[in-house]
Amino acid sequence: MKRQILSVLSAVALAAAANVASAADVAAGKAKAATCGGCHGANGISAVPNYPNLAGQKSAYMIKQMKAFKDGTRKDPSMNAMAKPLSDADMANLAAYYESLK
Ligand code: HEC
Repeated sequence: MKRQILSVLSAVALAAAANVASAADVAAGKAKAATCGGCHGANGISAVPNYPNLAGQKSAYMIKQMKAFKDGTRKDPSMNAMAKPLSDADMANLAAYYESLK
């Protein structure tokens, strides 16, 4: 019984790890972030007061904000345009990349 529980637990842990790996690709996010750096800074630290820092931001929050910009719930002319072409995978990768920065 104990053994069964353990194997179920490790299967769940493996599945969760695989999910994280496939849901967010930091390297792909970094490549995609080339277009964001002009405003948010090359390392996610912005030089302009009106442009927020993204370095170290929590990825779940960033994904939520990018979706809101994309669907127009959150309004900002620059970000509405930037978020339009982003797929869910792009957003997850970008968010993972920025979250990984200090
Ligand atoms: C032309 C300048 C510009 C570019 C390029 C740009 N952004 Fe932004 N971004 C902004 C501004 C301005 C805001 C703040 C909007 C507001 O005041 O609501 C913002 C806000 C955000 C936020 C919300 C931050 C928060 O703390 O709520 C995220 C996430 C974000 N941008 C991600 C990106 C990503 C990812 C890219 C590249 C795909 C990108 N931005 C490209 C100007 C830009």
